[in-house]
Amino acid sequence: MMHIWTVANQKGGVGKTTTAVTLAGMLAQQGKRTLLVDLDPQGSLTSYFSYNPDDIEDSVYNLFASGPSTSNVISALHPTLCDNLWLLPSSVVLATLDKEIGTHPGMGLVLKKSLGRLENRFDFILLDCTPVLGILMINALAACEKLLIPVQTEFLALKGLERMYHTLDMVQHSQKSVPSKCIVPTMYDQRTRASVDSLHTLRARYGNEVWREKIPVDTKFRDASKLGKPLSYLHPRARGVLAYEQLLQDLAA
Ligand SMILES: Nc1ncnc2c1ncn2[C@@H]1O[C@H](COP(=O)(O)OP(=O)(O)OP(=O)(O)O)[C@@H](O)[C@H]1O
Ligand SMILES: [Mg+2]
Repeated sequence: MMHIWTVANQKGGVGKTTTAVTLAGMLAQQGKRTLLVDLDPQGSLTSYFSYNPDDIEDSVYNLFASGPSTSNVISALHPTLCDNLWLLPSSVVLATLDKEIGTHPGMGLVLKKSLGRLENRFDFILLDCTPVLGILMINALAACEKLLIPVQTEFLALKGLERMYHTLDMVQHSQKSVPSKCIVPTMYDQRTRASVDSLHTLRARYGNEVWREKIPVDTKFRDASKLGKPLSYLHPRARGVLAYEQLLQDLAA
């Protein structure tokens, strides 16, 4: 059985890519065949693994431009420096997608169909979204069984979350199954008022849709992104890693 999880929030810089990379790295280390999909035209995830989104040949774009065929999906799979961990990269041309084909009917299911072609090649597929609402995010929401919403514990954090819920409502009208949601508080710093207060508000408003723990601020995440491997490969005992391990256990439970 292939599990598909989407990481999304309509706010930038909240830890979406970090969450996708870190969880995927841990799954791969556990021996799970794992695929990361970069659905952000900025290509942060693609760059993380040292591919260049400005001149990549085969990417997520192919699936939209030439169709969700098995050969199109397979030829866009790229290896990473880690065993069991693969990347379906982004390309800068993805930024043109909404203008080109955004309004064509049926375009919301391209990704779901494409990933379905992979059948049992992977145990886990993690989709990393752009913060911009558009055809890519709609596709990611339609393709997943689980939706992780990282929320930075700071003032104004709830704005992006409200927008995200609104988008979900919209998408769910046209869908049979609904992904289960998990709000993941990120970049928590217990010494700051902003972190403590916003986490409190988050729990009060969203109750048990909020994960019981939180991801702490850990500067090692930034360092790991320069080395092309998820943090757990470099610092297995880092506090950020331990927190994501706990998250993964809770998600799998
Ligand atoms: N728990 C953390 N502690 C400290 N820094 C973090 C943490 N999580 C992420 N970061 C750093 O914060 C920055 C933004 O994180 P990330 O790229 O994961 O966010 P994003 O939501 O994917 O952003 P975007 O919306 O631009 O795609 C990065 O430099 C990342 O290394
Ligand atoms: Mg990102």
